[in-house]
Amino acid sequence: MHSFGYRANSLLTFAVTILAVMCAMASFSDNLNTPSPSSQVEVLSINWFQRQPNGNDEVSMTLNISANLQSMFTWNTKQVFVFLAAEYATPKNSLNQVSLWDGIIPSKEHAKFWIHTTNKYRFTDQGSNLRGKEFNLTLHWHVMPKTGKMFADKIIMTGFRLPEEYR
Ligand SMILES: *[C@@H]1O[C@H](CO)[C@@H](O)[C@H](O)[C@H]1NC(C)=O
Ligand SMILES: *[C@@H]1O[C@H](CO)[C@@H](O)[C@H](O)[C@H]1NC(C)=O
Repeated sequence: MHSFGYRANSLLTFAVTILAVMCAMASFSDNLNTPSPSSQVEVLSINWFQRQPNGNDEVSMTLNISANLQSMFTWNTKQVFVFLAAEYATPKNSLNQVSLWDGIIPSKEHAKFWIHTTNKYRFTDQGSNLRGKEFNLTLHWHVMPKTGKMFADKIIMTGFRLPEEYR
């Protein structure tokens, strides 16, 4: 006959084993999740485009940013930080990156959205390199998990161009 202590102990062992298996399965399932985010950005209008007194070009634009990042959300996702950057090359730098907009997505319900907005941060170039400039709009994200490592990725949207003339 087993003593009470022995039974309690084996019950505890069983519970701990089940818990360990569940944790392993959960973290495995999180690794199995391959997100398939999508994003689309339209430049709805160029509001103004000028050379500033300091010689730097600056542009103000209205954007329609839409994205579906719901597949990034798992049981282990705390939140997702996103930012939209204009990326272009100049004679001095092969990659110039200007952040235009950012946001924090707190939950899966908020991860499918579109937003009609002017650039939240200034789109300026040090110099007067922006006329007729081709650029990409890249949606970057950082997934902050509840446990484990943060990871980041991006979607590059190509084929944008600024006007040839200031306006
Ligand atoms: C923004 O884009 C979304 C998705 O492409 C579309 O449903 C929505 O009507 C657009 N909004 C504006 C103001 O263009
Ligand atoms: C836009 O992205 C594409 C693909 O990564 C790259 O080949 C191209 O050079 C980029 N264009 C600009 C203007 O940065």
